[in-house]
Amino acid sequence: MAELQEVQITEEKPLLPGQTPEAAKTHSVETPYGSVTFTVFGTPKPKRPAILTYHDVGLNYKSCFQPLFQFGDMQEIIQNFVRVHVDAPGMEEGAAVFPLGYQYPSLDQLADMIPCILQYLNFSTIIGVGVGAGAYILSRYALNHPDTVEGLVLINIDPNAKGWMDWAAHKLTGLTSSISEMILGHLFSQEELSGNSELIQKYRNIITHAPNLDNIELYWNSYNNRRDLNFERGGDITLKCPVMLVVGDQAPHEDAVMADSGGQPQLTQPGKLTEAFKYFLQGMGYMASSCMTRLSRSRTASLTSAASIDGNRSRSRTLSQSSESGTLSSGPPGHTMEVSC
Ligand code: BEZ
Repeated sequence: MAELQEVQITEEKPLLPGQTPEAAKTHSVETPYGSVTFTVFGTPKPKRPAILTYHDVGLNYKSCFQPLFQFGDMQEIIQNFVRVHVDAPGMEEGAAVFPLGYQYPSLDQLADMIPCILQYLNFSTIIGVGVGAGAYILSRYALNHPDTVEGLVLINIDPNAKGWMDWAAHKLTGLTSSISEMILGHLFSQEELSGNSELIQKYRNIITHAPNLDNIELYWNSYNNRRDLNFERGGDITLKCPVMLVVGDQAPHEDAVMADSGGQPQLTQPGKLTEAFKYFLQGMGYMASSCMTRLSRSRTASLTSAASIDGNRSRSRTLSQSSESGTLSSGPPGHTMEVSC
């Protein structure tokens, strides 16, 4: 009997005819740690934060976020916000390779570049959306500048420094694998990599043939040398803003991330992420239910009513909702929301 094979289905719902992507403007600013490039889409909306994204290692803002931000249903959300997509130094399209011996910024220093971007744009607050290393950088920024962060969407964050076991495994892998294979192993699960779907072929091709692979290795090294964020539940070091924690179920390093962890849900599940993001923004008072899709409206209504019965719900006593979108859990309304997809 032929073996049944699990196939990864990537959601595709591109922009509708007539929906054109907004014009983008790319800027660079000088910071104490070197120059940083970012691309702005849309215009600032009064009394609304900017959405600021930070991508993972091996990617840039386009390869990390384009499938999510150009997803059809996402337009309803993002038209209400200006977006700032940061490229880590040396990751922007056409970046020159850094000279030998160049001291690449640490993740903490990359976080310290963000105030220069916001000052240049004259933006006072953000909702951060980060993946992997980018999620770490935005969390560090939020810990240092809590008053400027209204919310955080953290996809596949690993808040801990590498332990000695991780280092040993990393060194061993480094003996037999190329940098690009190690980075692919950070981004995708072994199951996804051996499945070799079109998406994997595309990202394998992007990373192995990247003209700035030497720069990518520097960002990779900074990621591997990160220190603990030292989050403590209920302790002094906590994120003060609402957080949407996203973990995929295709984990390359399942035990490291805060929950299940996995894959690149912003590439493979843009519809599920869009829906969860809508709930999150609605909890923050930014998306009136009248501008939500019928499906989202009915789900949000049940989530909101259940949450209001027990307004003091703690994070460990979560409200969970199962749907074809995976499992959503919500802590105190508008505070912490966990999404697995
Ligand atoms: C945006 O509309 O924010 C966007 C468009 C293309 C790529 C990434 C983001």
